[in-house]
Formats: sequence, C-alpha cells, structure tokens
Amino acid sequence: MPRLNAGTRHRVCFTLNGRAVETMCEPRLLLLDALRQELAATGTHAGCEHGVCGACTIQVDGQMARACLMLAVQAEGAEIRTVEGLAPAPDRLSVLQEAFRTHHGLQCGFCTPGILMTLDAFLRDQPSPSEQELREVLSGHLCRCTGYAPILRAAMAAADRLREEPRDA
Ligand code: FES
Ligand code: FES
Repeated sequence: MPRLNAGTRHRVCFTLNGRAVETMCEPRLLLLDALRQELAATGTHAGCEHGVCGACTIQVDGQMARACLMLAVQAEGAEIRTVEGLAPAPDRLSVLQEAFRTHHGLQCGFCTPGILMTLDAFLRDQPSPSEQELREVLSGHLCRCTGYAPILRAAMAAADRLREEPRDA
C-alpha cells in the first residue's frame, strides 16, 4: 500500500453488496465507520471495536472479516458484503435469515448481522457442519442477550435447508 498522509482524505473505491462505491476518508478511518457513517450501511454494528464481539462481521472477498479491525483504505478494490446484501430480493429473506426468524434466533438483534455474515460464509465452505462445528464458529460472537440456544437451532435448520435447495443469495 502506498504511503498515506494522516489527516488527508483519500479516495477509496470498492464493491459494496454488488454495487461500486467510492468514498473519501482519512487513513485512520475504520472500515466499520466508513460503512456506517459514509455509506449508510448501518446494518453492520459497532460493538467492542477491538475484534472480540463479532458484531461488525462482514465478508471481504468472500471471507468473514471484522470491520473494526480493518481500515477503510484497506478495502480498496475489494468485494465487500454486509448484511444488507443477504436478502435475495427486497421482499424475500435468505434461507439463513428465514431460519433465524422461524427459530427465534434473535432477541434485541444487535449481534445478529455479524452472526448471519459469519454463518453465510461458513455454510458456503462447510455445507454439512456438525453441531460442534457450528458451536465453534458461533463462539466468535458475543450475544448480549445470551440467546445462544435458538441461534444454534436456527443455524442447524439453515444448514439442513441449504443442503436441500440451492442457495439463493
Ligand atoms: S465491533 Fe468488531 S469485533 Fe466487536
Ligand atoms: S440478540 Fe441481543 S445481542 Fe444477541
């Protein structure tokens, strides 16, 4: 990456949920803050802001990533996907989102976008996870409402359904 001057705003271009976006930001700006404040993608939540809680989890080039541990300038040229990009159509939920609704996999919903983005990426790589594997991947997320049992049930139901029918998102 070229040397960037602190205090100077730089142009950063990347793809956000399939749409080319461009923003001006200082080198110190977190990707999390760029998404929320500059691009109005407020579905990505700010929790601990140091990589622990998982609330800010997004996908960068198909891999799950903590938006609070990346600078916005590091997203240059990347394909960024956030929870706003999960639903296949404005009036349809993805299989994963539907499972969370059916199995009450959320309470206040603060942790939910991050968990959905993690599970979406994980289930793409591992379509037949064991319960233990799902517990392990979910261990990277803190739910302040402690609703882990329904979250796990929703994740298992989504995995089952995704094996039966093609992924729609
Ligand atoms: S806000 Fe990024 S991990 Fe907690
Ligand atoms: S549903 Fe409230 S933090 Fe998880």
